[in-house]
Amino acid sequence: MQMRSKRPILAAMATMAAAWLFTVTVSGQAAPAGERPQMSEEAFKNIQVLKGIPADQFMGTMGVFSAATGLNCTDCHTEDSGGDWAKYADDNALKRQTRRMVLMMNAINMANFGGRQVVTCFTCHRGNSRPTVMPSIDLLYSSPPPEEPGEPIVQAPGQPTPDQVFEKYIQASGGAQRTAALTSLTAKGLSLGFSDADKAPVEIYATPLPQRTTILHTLSGDTTTVITPTAGWLAAPPTDRPLPMLPLTGTDLEGAKLEVLAFFPARLKQALTNIRVGYPTEIDGKEVNVLQGTIAGNGTATLCFDKETGLLTRMIHWGTSPVGRIVQRVDYSDYRDLAGVKLPFKWTVAWLNGRSSFELTDAQANTPIAAARFNKPAPSTPPK
Ligand code: HEC
Ligand code: HEC
Repeated sequence: MQMRSKRPILAAMATMAAAWLFTVTVSGQAAPAGERPQMSEEAFKNIQVLKGIPADQFMGTMGVFSAATGLNCTDCHTEDSGGDWAKYADDNALKRQTRRMVLMMNAINMANFGGRQVVTCFTCHRGNSRPTVMPSIDLLYSSPPPEEPGEPIVQAPGQPTPDQVFEKYIQASGGAQRTAALTSLTAKGLSLGFSDADKAPVEIYATPLPQRTTILHTLSGDTTTVITPTAGWLAAPPTDRPLPMLPLTGTDLEGAKLEVLAFFPARLKQALTNIRVGYPTEIDGKEVNVLQGTIAGNGTATLCFDKETGLLTRMIHWGTSPVGRIVQRVDYSDYRDLAGVKLPFKWTVAWLNGRSSFELTDAQANTPIAAARFNKPAPSTPPK
């Protein structure tokens, strides 16, 4: 076992935790009118194998690398890249080897699987920088870790239909009338990034269009994420991210839109097509109905509804990238009543190189929100 394997992934998460708020998945979907997403080779200086993908998807591939190999961002980049994003363009041995790995992976899929992306970094690495060569006796005789529902779920015999699951969810959330009457959410709360010592104040403005603006006030400045039906942006302090203004595209944007709809139960079902209900599974000892569907941009989402309460407890969504799926998961809890609608007052967002928890301390329903709230945010400036 490589000693590298555990520490780096945690370190990677720590560095990036606050930075990657709400970033998600992938793929070359249309940009908002008049704004073409910046491609990786335009946004960055030294791109050789991951060209032609939007910058946000490129950053997602870095998450795939970290999660697959257990390596920290700074392991694969140069030692001194920690404090200086420009240094990420420099090459070192691991970075060069990684490029060869991308080509090898593509060659394996082309030669053996008709170009289908069935072998990815994760297939071999499973969180280790050097894949294990020896069959593990321990693994053979230990109980396997819990299954994460990822594979295509098919409608299972004896399970409720998608409509039945959604019907129960709407009833549990307050009924068709009250959920449909929820037109906005204005909230204040606290957010804690993975391995952050202190919680940071956060403001949230959302509508069922879906639109959502999240402003996280951190010591290095504000991180503002804006999601609209046709565009999204992430404006972060330059110290936190290589691109201080990152447009969100493709399934990154579509996944984020789905997350907004978790706060507008009446609209959630409409965001999915081709819905199937699989066999129930357990989350934290509670049985859940597992429902899967397709989201715009050809992403996939899996929703888990508590069998007893009917409420949404988990959402997993992903899109594809040249090096494997870019997946994000949200776990919802602490459902409380707001204007007759049950909404989660706590949730945790986990992605391939970071995790953040949120809790609402003050929430209002149906207050008018100025349209300008959902404009492209201004760049983040250092706090005064
Ligand atoms: C397993 C190795 C590996 C890990 C881990 C990794 N990277 Fe990379 N990174 C690469 C490679 C390889 C490239 C160049 C890709 C190419 O040539 O197409 C790259 C390129 C980049 C670039 C573009 C630099 C430029 O200007 O050319 C940035 C920014 C970047 N990585 C950020 C990150 C961040 C942030 C993380 C942690 C979340 C990370 N990387 C983790 C291997 C890695
Ligand atoms: C078919 C299996 C396989 C796939 C797919 C694969 N790798 Fe590897 N990778 C290996 C093996 C085996 C090694 C170790 C080689 C050695 O020991 O010299 C390795 C080594 C590496 C190393 C060097 C680690 C070190 O500590 O020196 C990095 C970085 C790496 N792989 C990244 C990736 C990334 C990123 C991807 C996806 C683009 C990927 N690999 C896909 C099998 C694979």
